[in-house]
Amino acid sequence: MKDLVVIGGGGHAKVVIATARAVGYEVTGILDEDETKYGKVILDVPIIGGLDLLRSGMYERAVIAIGDNRERQRIAHYYKDFCTWVTLIHPFSFVHSTCSIGDGTVVFAGVVIHPESIIGEHCIVNTSASVGHDCFLGDFVQIGPGVRLTGGAKVEEGAFVGAGAVVIPQRIVGAWSVVGAGAVVIKDVRPYSKVVGVPAKEIGSVDASKGE
Ligand SMILES: CC(C)(COP(=O)(O)OP(=O)(O)OC[C@H]1O[C@@H](n2cnc3c(N)ncnc32)[C@H](O)[C@@H]1OP(=O)(O)O)[C@@H](O)C(=O)NCCC(=O)NCCS
Repeated sequence: MKDLVVIGGGGHAKVVIATARAVGYEVTGILDEDETKYGKVILDVPIIGGLDLLRSGMYERAVIAIGDNRERQRIAHYYKDFCTWVTLIHPFSFVHSTCSIGDGTVVFAGVVIHPESIIGEHCIVNTSASVGHDCFLGDFVQIGPGVRLTGGAKVEEGAFVGAGAVVIPQRIVGAWSVVGAGAVVIKDVRPYSKVVGVPAKEIGSVDASKGE
């Protein structure tokens, strides 16, 4: 069994640990920047210390279990030279052989990804989401539980698509934008904008100054 450390000791880590075990990894520890969590245990895995432990070279493989897209981006870039980012694809998902899935991306149970879709690095494709043929997900994208991305939809870097949202064919969800839960995207979503509702309408913007 291969060892794996999980970065981030929140609720999302539970699903990532469960997915990693389903794939056959032994999760040996959790790293977190919040010192108050040290010593706590999630699904029998101890939170052993801060992310700087990665620099020791003790941990060969890691996966980032943090829902915040900007945080995943920051950690992925900062620690990229100190470990291998593992890609997890739950055995109870279907990913067509013509798809590519980037390093550090996690595909949860119940997901279906149809032919010739491209999924970037450090994405979260959450429970039972479906990704149609020829879709594109940039790096650090998060697709919530039950999302329906239809054929040719494109979700650019860092965008977040909330639970149960639908994106109709060929539409583009712009970089670092936020699509609210249950929204139906029928027009392209501008980068750094926030949209909700059916059909999805812009209600605000996302702070473009945050992150790298
Ligand atoms: C859109 C979202 C990100 C909230 O953004 P926000 O800027 O904090 O928005 P607010 O809560 O201040 O709400 C702003 C307005 O949008 C409405 N709104 C918020 N989310 C909505 C949604 N999903 N659908 C429809 N309307 C929504 C609010 O009712 C409010 O309307 P009002 O101004 O008429 O009162 C959040 O509501 C959401 O949908 N998150 C998705 C969570 C999710 O799916 N997580 C999956 C994790 S696994």
